[in-house]
Amino acid sequence: MTSKQQNQNRQKQQAATLALDYIESSMIVGIGTGSTANFFIDELVKIKAKIDGTVASSVASADRLKNHGIRVLELNEVGSLPLYVDGADESNKSLHLIKGGGGALTREKIVASSSDKFVCIADDSKLVSCLGDFPLPVECIPMAQSYVARQIVKLGGQPILRENFITDNGNIIIDIHNMQISEPVSMETALNQVTGVVTCGLFAIKPADVLILGNQII
Ligand code: 5RP
Repeated sequence: MTSKQQNQNRQKQQAATLALDYIESSMIVGIGTGSTANFFIDELVKIKAKIDGTVASSVASADRLKNHGIRVLELNEVGSLPLYVDGADESNKSLHLIKGGGGALTREKIVASSSDKFVCIADDSKLVSCLGDFPLPVECIPMAQSYVARQIVKLGGQPILRENFITDNGNIIIDIHNMQISEPVSMETALNQVTGVVTCGLFAIKPADVLILGNQII
C-alpha cells in the first residue's frame, strides 16, 4: 500500500469514528457501502448495544453487519430512519455527491432518501471543486443499455458499460466519463428522466447534511 493510500485509510477511519457521535440511544441506523462504510461498521461494533438495529444499503454491508452480530432490518419494516452514514466518491462544497463506485447507488439513495440526516464520511481527496472527474455511475435496466447510452451522449458524457458487473437489483451500470457537472441538480433531474435509468449516482437533489473528511467536519 502506498503512503497516500495509508493516509486515505487513516482519514476514513477518523471520519468513521467521528460519525459515532451522531448516534443516539435506540436508533435504527442506515448503513452505506464501501471501504469507508466498512470502517464505520467496524466502529459500530463498539456501541452495538446502544442501537436497536441497522438498515443496510447492500448485501455486502448486510453480511458484514451480521458477521459482527449487529441486527439488520428491512427498510420496509422500519419506515423512516433518523440517520444514514455512508462514504462518497466525490463531494463538492454544497455536499452534492457522486456515489456508486461500489455499484450500490440505488439502495444507497433509497436508504439516504428515507433518512432524516445523511452523514457522509470520507478522506479529503474526495472534496472537489467540480464533480465529474470520477465517472458518474448510472444503474439501468439491461434492455435499455443502448438507449440510455445514446441519451448520455446527448447530455455531453461518454458512456462506458461497467464490465462483468450486475447490481444487487439485477441491473447493469453505465459509468459516465469525461463530463464536468457544473449543475448537479439539473443533471440529476435530466438523468432521472431517461427511460430505463433506475438511478444515477448524483446525490444533489437531496445532498448530504454533514460531510466529515478525516477529523474535520465540513
Ligand atoms: C458505493 C459507494 C461508496 O460510498 C463510494 O464508492 C466510496 O467508496 P469508498 O468508501 O470505498 O471510498 O457509493 O456504491
